Amino acid sequence: MIRNYLIAGPASQILSQQVAKLMDLPIIETEFKKFPDGENYVRLKIEDESPLKDSEVIIIQSTDYPQNDHLWELLYLISISKRIEAKKIRVVVPYLAYSRQDKIFLPGEAVSARLICKLIENAGATEFFTIDLHSADVLSEFSIPTHNLDAMPLLADYLKKQELKDPVVVSPDKGSRKRSEQFANLIGAELVMFDKSRDKITGEITMSGDAKLENRDVAIADDIISTGSTMAAAMKLAKQGGARKLYALCTHPLLIKNAMDRLYDAGVESIIGTNTVSSPVSVVSVAPLIKESLTEK
Ligand code: R5P
Repeated sequence: MIRNYLIAGPASQILSQQVAKLMDLPIIETEFKKFPDGENYVRLKIEDESPLKDSEVIIIQSTDYPQNDHLWELLYLISISKRIEAKKIRVVVPYLAYSRQDKIFLPGEAVSARLICKLIENAGATEFFTIDLHSADVLSEFSIPTHNLDAMPLLADYLKKQELKDPVVVSPDKGSRKRSEQFANLIGAELVMFDKSRDKITGEITMSGDAKLENRDVAIADDIISTGSTMAAAMKLAKQGGARKLYALCTHPLLIKNAMDRLYDAGVESIIGTNTVSSPVSVVSVAPLIKESLTEK
């Protein structure tokens, strides 16, 4: 019989515990540190490597801030599993760093997202899982099986438990249209399109749209809230259009620096995120979604 183990990456310890519990899997914890010169160290907390030989391992490690540390830890964990000769190395990266650098925006850049996919495969991954990837196209870089899981139904279920008044889903930009349409269907709401433009050099955002939202509750469901600038700009416009309560939802609540304040200042009533990354608003667990995908035949 093939043995299965779940390796809890340093960045995803609680989520790993949740998935291990749901799947009734033994968990392997990790020891990790940074050397004085800044180099990363990680080891599996095991005394004997032999049980892992020919086993199937699942590694769960998100790659949010500090991205580069978490990426190196991930690559080491894959490489350790390969050296120990695990039969299958199933890699779950709930949030994939650099996913927004999915193409060349200015001459001379790297397509970071694609490079990271290559590194993960070359380190020894045999299957790859992620959640609400900013651009699913980058998965074409892999030659192993890949899965881009959809957390929107979980967020929609959470939102439906709030008492919404005449809800509207706003799509903050063209890139979010498909996701917003899906979200609107999930909660049974109308869809309104806004239009975002971002200065390629300064990153400054301009939001426009015809928003007549008098006394209606507005929800925006994005893949990422990072600085909160996109969400805040859309929410301000919705508020100007007369919206009542504003709900900001996202799969990956990176919430850099004062992002939460920026959203509350824009009039947001509630920020709702998943635990692909740890944050004060990570109230929706993706553990059942990961379990379901890992056990699918
Ligand atoms: C952009 O296309 C993404 O879907 C997010 O809207 C964006 O990356 C969020 O970043 P920020 O919170 O910094 O505006």
